[in-house]
Amino acid sequence: MTSAALPPASVTVRVPAKVNLELLVGAPREDGYHPLATVYHAVGLFDEVTVTAAAQWGLTVNGPQSLGVPSGDGNLALRAARQLAEAAGVQDAVHVVLRKDIPVAGGMAGGSADAAATLVACDALWGLAMTRQELEGLAATLGSDVPFLLSGGTAMGSGRGEVLAPVLARGKFHWVLALSEGGLSTPAVYAECDRLRGAAPVADPVPSPEMMTALRSGDPHALAAALQNDLQPAAISLMPALGDVLEAGMEFGALGGVVSGSGPTVAFLAESHEAALDLAVSLTASGAVQDVRRATGPAHGAHVVGGPRAG
Ligand code: C5P
Repeated sequence: MTSAALPPASVTVRVPAKVNLELLVGAPREDGYHPLATVYHAVGLFDEVTVTAAAQWGLTVNGPQSLGVPSGDGNLALRAARQLAEAAGVQDAVHVVLRKDIPVAGGMAGGSADAAATLVACDALWGLAMTRQELEGLAATLGSDVPFLLSGGTAMGSGRGEVLAPVLARGKFHWVLALSEGGLSTPAVYAECDRLRGAAPVADPVPSPEMMTALRSGDPHALAAALQNDLQPAAISLMPALGDVLEAGMEFGALGGVVSGSGPTVAFLAESHEAALDLAVSLTASGAVQDVRRATGPAHGAHVVGGPRAG
């Protein structure tokens, strides 16, 4: 080391992306949110968040998926850090570095993942030792998907998605993620879902027995048959090319496919590691999608991978 300065105190946290294996959407509530019955599944596509003690709040974004990440106070990770400081009475500021591999506005909860990771990182940096419950409470105020990214794995979500319950799930699943150019705005997709439904009555969302059975069995064929997303017609309505992507994946041998969350990422389930490789190659060669990634699930939620180092 050429400088006499010691490395700054910093903590790095790794956080996965999510897909929704099931996303059932009710009629909008008074507050505008939609009641959900969803099954979250964390997959091994990761962002890394590093927080470093600093004289003032700041944010740097890098990595393959950094384009389009909101900067400054519009960034959910920075909001998470400030909110935790306020809740815990911490006076110090941090500089947040996001290394983005989760697509932006892709329906994989990239922004929520960064917020969850920042909570875990700042908790460690500041030595707060907050309980999981305390962190989940803060996470829920930041966004509906944020609490799930703290825990990861496979879990049921209800309320607006922030109320988590464990689910019995076996096995490891092989996913091929088809990324499309341009993101979709989550509020716009929910609004389109309401518009497509029109005045028709909407039943309260209830988890399907087929999904619960499929998860208990760990059988990818059963899981593929049970994949469903009420937001899928709305995402396809706003981005019609997604219909072609779904068709292409099935033609190339996927067991099943579903738009992830509000899209536009499409998650395809493959039978094995080899089948996922073949599917990824075919989808890439087809030119139907912007990028193709493979990932296995379930993955662990936000967890510390480096630091804290002495300041
Ligand atoms: O909770 P979050 O900030 O991630 O939600 C983003 C937007 O998605 C909300 O402002 C709302 O328009 C929509 N949303 C919804 N119902 C949910 C979750 C999100 O309408 N259960």
